[in-house]
Amino acid sequence: MLFRIRLPRGQSLHAPISTFNIFKGVPRWKRALYITVPLLILSNYLIIFQWTFFEELRNRLWPDASFHPGAFPQTTHSHHDGEPDYWLWDTLTSFSPPKPGGRKDDCASFPTPLLDKIQVVLKTGVADSRDRTAAQLSTVIKCIPNILISSDLTHAYGPLHNATDMLASLPAKTYMPRSDYAIYTSQQHADAASLAPGHDGWKLDKYKFLPQVEQAVARNPAAEWFVFLESDTYVFWDNMFRLLSSYDPAHPYYFGSPSPGRTYRDPADAHETKTVWFAYGGSGFVLSGAAAHRLVDRLQNSMGVTGPRVTDEYRKMVRSDCCGDSVLGWAVHDRASVEISGLFPMFNPHSLHGIPFGNAARYWCEPVVSLHKTHPGDFGKIWQFERDWDREKGPLLYRDVMVGFWKLDSVERKEDWDNADWDGFNEESADHESNQSFEACRAYCHQYEKCWQFTWHGHHCWMSKALRMGQPKEPDGYHEEIDRKYVSGWDTEKIRKFVSENTCEEGAHWVKPSIARIF
Ligand SMILES: *[C@@H]1O[C@H](CO)[C@@H](O)[C@H](O)[C@H]1NC(C)=O
Ligand SMILES: *[C@@H]1O[C@H](CO)[C@@H](O)[C@H](O)[C@H]1NC(C)=O
Repeated sequence: MLFRIRLPRGQSLHAPISTFNIFKGVPRWKRALYITVPLLILSNYLIIFQWTFFEELRNRLWPDASFHPGAFPQTTHSHHDGEPDYWLWDTLTSFSPPKPGGRKDDCASFPTPLLDKIQVVLKTGVADSRDRTAAQLSTVIKCIPNILISSDLTHAYGPLHNATDMLASLPAKTYMPRSDYAIYTSQQHADAASLAPGHDGWKLDKYKFLPQVEQAVARNPAAEWFVFLESDTYVFWDNMFRLLSSYDPAHPYYFGSPSPGRTYRDPADAHETKTVWFAYGGSGFVLSGAAAHRLVDRLQNSMGVTGPRVTDEYRKMVRSDCCGDSVLGWAVHDRASVEISGLFPMFNPHSLHGIPFGNAARYWCEPVVSLHKTHPGDFGKIWQFERDWDREKGPLLYRDVMVGFWKLDSVERKEDWDNADWDGFNEESADHESNQSFEACRAYCHQYEKCWQFTWHGHHCWMSKALRMGQPKEPDGYHEEIDRKYVSGWDTEKIRKFVSENTCEEGAHWVKPSIARIF
């Protein structure tokens, strides 16, 4: 690389240099050249090969920590041994009672004014399944006109909404590795139909978590709560609103189903590793206004320098981590100094079909706030069930879902169905009698205190310790025709006894925040 420098006539570059012997007799312009050319080469070298040094210079001068808000006194929910880990709150519904004969409009009784204070964000992708979109539009987000839809492209989402490209502001081109950027740009040129499932769009998912919090706060800075959903999250809004009305949004809260995330060395004890828990994205999570602002607001340090965007601060981590929800949990811990308030099982990673009711005294008197991986076809059914539920009676509990929705206390038998693929067990001895027939299998299940239900398949009796609906299953395996079927049964006698003995009469169990009670 060659550089030419012209100095105005009669002006010396550096007066003292002319006293050096080595420059004796060398014309001035040459002296200038000898000094500036190596300097330019050096700085070129530094800029080209050591760019990260310059990039991080600001960080070195003013570490990010100086842009973080001060510690907030965490509200502790620690409780003493023996004390129940739930509150028996008396909550009120915010839905208005349905008008007689006014069944047609689902949204008539929805508490729309609350949405000024509760900003809902739904994360999707342009390649997301059409079934999920249809399910969301006709249920969970049906009555939320101001929903923010977070995506990886600007596109229509149903007739009334547009999804926002969360990656545009990063900006995507410099933010993500080239391979991911290629997916991003390929989506912009593809036609919608070719982006159906199977496309690599899910690889862009992790980049949306931080910018969607920024945009939600920018859209509704006065919101008291920010509720984040994914396209396969089902939310029971009545219970969500009851829950939020019981907490103070001026405190920094981060609610969800806790999962162990990134680790760090304990500053107090170098041998000790600590884990940061994050809210699992699929079952939805909530940030109070205070927590969201602590996460995204750009503070100024004492020198008046404005700190980095949260997206920039954790860029490296987003690139290297698999999961956006984990990075978000880390950022909430690191930048906002807020720890998760784990509210499992109210926030639930199970699907509607998979809830293990009554298991270890969970999933019973607890209100159900969210479900994950629920089949799009089930969204409408549970939505309708909720609509017909008398909300004045109290929050919808897991018990109500089991008894009222699935009616598991009266299902005797279901063909082409598997209800024993979770927590299953069978009889030890070979060719045990329980294998002989569906009826023999039922008799054996009845005999075991722990057996709730069973599936007879392949001349084999599978019993299960979990009380669940299970799912359809087509005949398979190398068995004789009759044995290829899956036939499920429930010990309804046991179930009815359990239901009548566990009535949740004392009230709903609003679980206290905990990371000991996990999925
Ligand atoms: C969505 O975007 C289209 C095209 O830009 C625009 O015409 C339409 O009004 C937008 N709809 C909403 C609800 O913002
Ligand atoms: C009956 O069940 C036992 C264990 O539960 C299994 O080992 C055996 O192979 C079964 N018999 C038949 C005929 O499938």
